[in-house]
Amino acid sequence: MSQDIHDQRLLIVDFGSQYTQLIARRVREAGVYCEIWPYDAPVDAIRDYAPRGFILSGGPESVTEGATPRIPDVVFSAGVPVLGICYGMQAMAQQLGGRVEGSDVHEFGHALVDVSADSELLGAVNNGAAGELAVWMSHGDKVVELPSGFQLAAATESAPIAAMECAEKQLYGVQFHPEVTHTDQGALIFRRFAREICGCEGLWTAANIVEDAIAVVRDTVGDEKVVLGLSGGVDSSVVAALLSRAIGDQLTCVFVDNGLLRKNERAEVEQAFGPSNALNLNLITVDAQNEFLGNLKGLSDPEAKRKAIGTTFIDVFDREAHRIEDVSWLAQGTIYPDVIESAASKHGKAHVIKSHHNVGGLPERMHLKLVEPLRELFKDEVRKIGLHLGLPRELVYRHPFPGPGLGVRILGEISREKADVLREADAIFLEELRAADYYDKVSQAFAVYLPVKSVGVVGDSRRYADVIALRAVETIDFMTGRWAELPYDLIGRVSNRIINEISGVSRVVYDVSSKPPATIEWE
Ligand code: XMP
Repeated sequence: MSQDIHDQRLLIVDFGSQYTQLIARRVREAGVYCEIWPYDAPVDAIRDYAPRGFILSGGPESVTEGATPRIPDVVFSAGVPVLGICYGMQAMAQQLGGRVEGSDVHEFGHALVDVSADSELLGAVNNGAAGELAVWMSHGDKVVELPSGFQLAAATESAPIAAMECAEKQLYGVQFHPEVTHTDQGALIFRRFAREICGCEGLWTAANIVEDAIAVVRDTVGDEKVVLGLSGGVDSSVVAALLSRAIGDQLTCVFVDNGLLRKNERAEVEQAFGPSNALNLNLITVDAQNEFLGNLKGLSDPEAKRKAIGTTFIDVFDREAHRIEDVSWLAQGTIYPDVIESAASKHGKAHVIKSHHNVGGLPERMHLKLVEPLRELFKDEVRKIGLHLGLPRELVYRHPFPGPGLGVRILGEISREKADVLREADAIFLEELRAADYYDKVSQAFAVYLPVKSVGVVGDSRRYADVIALRAVETIDFMTGRWAELPYDLIGRVSNRIINEISGVSRVVYDVSSKPPATIEWE
């Protein structure tokens, strides 16, 4: 590869929309690299970044109020195309001499916009014809007067200026949200902007990403040794596959059995990554079940349990890693949303509800240098390169599993017996979901152990045992989610099997809480 795949890039200027990451994902899907920066990033840094185009995100504020975010001048003076979305379009209109009107009425949902045939951005999407485009709207304010030099590109009844553009200066604005899938031609709009209007070639492909990452890793670690905590989840598995391609047996993976894994998990990881597999990694499995369960004894507070699991993990991993001679690097599966979130939390913009950083503190404690080859990738890109690297589809499309494992799914105090019961129940649930073709239709599904005694009758005898809750959710980003409407007969089958096959359970319930206010996990 002669060209750096990051050279032809866009910059997404973030005004705080909940959809900003979706914008970046759509641009990447169009084959173009981009990054998300806050609107108040240093001007010099933006200039040096030299993107081939800017996209201005939506945001929760109103440009009709004084002290709200504005587009930095460098965006307009860079001489490259700019696309403003929702708030981004309103700010563009207002800053360039148009007029925006506030409104208490929020338009939210599907809408049909009439597109002008000669719109450079939208006309082509409609095959060069005027016509209707099905879009997703979510706004209060709207542009009521175009800045000079702009023309109308699309209209609806409720937003007469639903899109605008100044082809001469390559400035474009859309009031609707092309980044959400409800906007039918959204992908084409981003492709049109990123590839044709900004002139990027589409270098951001799975093959190129892998090739680039391999080169970067080789360059970074040289001939030194690397250790990776392999959990069996998507991110660490892809890091393992990637590093093994890049540096072969300089890599050692450590898999910790904490006693809180799902049924067969350890065997599956050993099969996928162990000696008999094509990847043939140096894999060390550490059986630390007793140590974890011992440290969890007597703890029932969720945060205390998380903390005990986290610190035990660090102890165990640290111990094992230092048995590897001359190891200098720790590999981690950090992905781009983690990078954005931790930057936001440093600015006090994010709100931490649960302590999710399972291995936080590990690099500091171990005095190792960090290598994070997935740092610039979204989860869907991690999956794509996982498939490209030859990992099995079932592994690449696994539901997420929290670092503390079943520890946050056994309410209250944890014991080996409870973990065994939960493992069986969970396995039955997942098996039936797969058999009914529902596993891929939901984003995450699992069983939860409720230490609540209830009475049941099995055969002629009375059973006084605990409860299993089933949870299945649909979500795009795991920040919000809906409980999944699984068919009753499927839930019924799962319930029958759990109660009949596991003696420690007398009752099964289905969780019908959405997030918010409920979280996905029960602890
Ligand atoms: P919540 O329960 O916060 O979950 O709605 C959102 C997503 O995060 C996962 N989760 C965790 N992941 N360590 C993790 O690595 C944790 O402590 C943790 N808690 C929740 C959860 O499974 C869901 O996908």
